[in-house]
Amino acid sequence: MSSDVLQKARDFEAQYGPHIPDRERPAFHATPTIGWMNDPNGFSFYKGECHLFYQYHPYSNVWGPMHWGHLKTRDFLRWERLPAALAPDQDYDASGCFSGGAAELPDGRQLLMYTGVRRSHNADGFLQDVQTQCVAVGDGVNYEKWGGNPVLDAKDLPEGGSTIDFRDPKIWRDKDGTFYAVIGNRTADGSGSILMYRSRDGFKWEFVRTLDRCCNQYGKMWECPDFFPLDGKQVLLTSPQDMKPVGLEFHAGNGTLCLIGDYDTEKGFTRQSAQAIDYGLDFYAPQTLEAPDGRRIMIAWMQNWDTVNAKPHHCRWFGQMSLPRELSVRDGRLIQNPVRELEAYRVRRVVHQNIPVCGEINLPGVQGRVLDMTVTVRPTGPERYRWFRIRVAKDGEHETIIRYRPDQGTVKLDRIRSGLPRDIVHTRSFLVRPRDGEIKLRIVLDRYSLEVFVNDGEQAASAVIYTRQETDAITFEAGGSAMVDVEKFDLDFVGQEA
Ligand code: FRU
Repeated sequence: MSSDVLQKARDFEAQYGPHIPDRERPAFHATPTIGWMNDPNGFSFYKGECHLFYQYHPYSNVWGPMHWGHLKTRDFLRWERLPAALAPDQDYDASGCFSGGAAELPDGRQLLMYTGVRRSHNADGFLQDVQTQCVAVGDGVNYEKWGGNPVLDAKDLPEGGSTIDFRDPKIWRDKDGTFYAVIGNRTADGSGSILMYRSRDGFKWEFVRTLDRCCNQYGKMWECPDFFPLDGKQVLLTSPQDMKPVGLEFHAGNGTLCLIGDYDTEKGFTRQSAQAIDYGLDFYAPQTLEAPDGRRIMIAWMQNWDTVNAKPHHCRWFGQMSLPRELSVRDGRLIQNPVRELEAYRVRRVVHQNIPVCGEINLPGVQGRVLDMTVTVRPTGPERYRWFRIRVAKDGEHETIIRYRPDQGTVKLDRIRSGLPRDIVHTRSFLVRPRDGEIKLRIVLDRYSLEVFVNDGEQAASAVIYTRQETDAITFEAGGSAMVDVEKFDLDFVGQEA
């Protein structure tokens, strides 16, 4: 049943959403119908269709009382807009319907589980959140919040667990029909933990165990967890707040963390390795699904909380999702590659092979802003290259640079001159596996972003850029001598209906 608050949001997006022309949006990255978007929510298949909900404030391009926006897709690239699914319209979620997940109930209805936020004054007079978990049930378009909400609250927390930071349930239904949820929480030491709950029916939930704890090692509060088996291992993803940099692995602020280990229903989760998920500037709160064909696919908010004020003037949408990525685990590391569906949109193949680069060059047919390009760089000649730069979205004034330094084994992303008029974080470097001076970079550009996949997905790095669309030159430059292969496709979504 639609409340007044939800109906108002639906009327608003129906009236003003269509005012935003398609050419002002990315060609294939998900954006809000109108206004503000953050985390992906409820990324899942329901009745054979892929649904993506998102944190949504339709009325402005800044964060506000959270609704759930709603999209559907057949190929992870073209998005069909559905009316907003949830609005903050109950006592227990009056300050927001925060992030959560979705699963199919045995009776064929769709279950949404989200964090209800209620704000009230604490003993010091300060505003403070109370976060509980709530459910809503629907048919893929309309949802009704359950009369028994909240389904998890303070009494369901382990000792020392915070009621202020208890959020972002990710749910799934196991093969034996049991529902599970993983939820972020803050423990008495002030840092995060991931709690696991279970339910027979999706409505009555019980605490199972704490899966892992931050112990002040990786940031503070752990937000937006996900937990799944992959290639014989168990993967725990979370997005920590207040991280401190560790070498080139983790950067300051809101980061991402992938813990890989084993899971045993008796012993719990045993962590074996820790890494960042994306090494670029804009990536947070990823969520995954298992596709009907068995692929584990991840999508994230392609944005950084610390730079949300750097946005184009008067933009009518803000916030976009990453390109969905296929995940695997190889040698104890998370491997990420663009969903294979992207290949269906490749047109106008341009290939250049064994091109010597010394100084800066253009290559015929290699330019554009919506494209999929793979560049392989090899050392050549007596003066092996010391650095290699690919400049994209370039004109006389603008450029975004991807630089590789084989001696340091680093890739650097640099959008200082991408046209953003704000003094925000513009560069990030990360370590890549040395391969005797050779590197393979797959660069996917959409109108307002670039995503780089290194050495067949060993690292991924994403960044938002707002350079004007006419700025579309691409150049290659080496300090020393290098040899390159370039294969470039335009990506053509024009005229493709969802
Ligand atoms: C992460 C997050 C979540 C929360 C949501 C609110 O980006 O802070 O923890 O549920 O955003 O919009």
